[in-house]
Amino acid sequence: MPTHPFYVFDAYGTLFDVHSAASKYQAEIGASWERLSQTWRLKHIEYTWLFAQTGRHTSFRRLAEQSLDYAIALVGGVPPGVRDKLMASYMTLSAYPEVAEVLADLRATGARTAILSNGDPDMLEAAVSSAGIGAHLDAVLSVQDVGIFKPAMKVYELATRHFSCKPGEISFQSSNRWDAAGAKVFGMRCVWINRAGLPDEYPDTPADVVTRDLRALL
Ligand code: LAC
Repeated sequence: MPTHPFYVFDAYGTLFDVHSAASKYQAEIGASWERLSQTWRLKHIEYTWLFAQTGRHTSFRRLAEQSLDYAIALVGGVPPGVRDKLMASYMTLSAYPEVAEVLADLRATGARTAILSNGDPDMLEAAVSSAGIGAHLDAVLSVQDVGIFKPAMKVYELATRHFSCKPGEISFQSSNRWDAAGAKVFGMRCVWINRAGLPDEYPDTPADVVTRDLRALL
């Protein structure tokens, strides 16, 4: 049974499979597609940290483009047209298989659900709509409303403000261990969705729950 009145989810990597874009074009990219995809993701996140730490803000999509260009350069290039196809796929990523069902079941028990993401509002809208999960979400919250990327505390505060609740009433789910740590510092219950089976880190801010996918929430 769900334990909290509010369930807030990170988007990229947690609900939407960021590697599904490069995976779709692996034949065209060749053997380096996984390295490209991993580098793209890591650099995308690194760029958001630089903006947040230096008190600046920009669009998540712009940083997706810049990090993709870096990843493409690192693997020695991709055939013409593939870059644009990868960016287009990023706008309509696949959701992980259990996402719709878990969100629906949580809401059926009376819990309320939301996305809290670095993504631009239009990117999130496109992803939610292509994954067909809009009906299972009470809110889609973007950092664009506070003008700073995660893990700034102001971002997690968007969720408590939206639901007019205390941090401890929210269960926050992220596959990004650093994002779960940020939510924990803010006072939320944090659930690390360790989809990739990675070793644990951030021992000063331990996750309250560690699980391979979202089904453990039910
Ligand atoms: C997000 C990134 C961090 O959706 O995955 O906020």
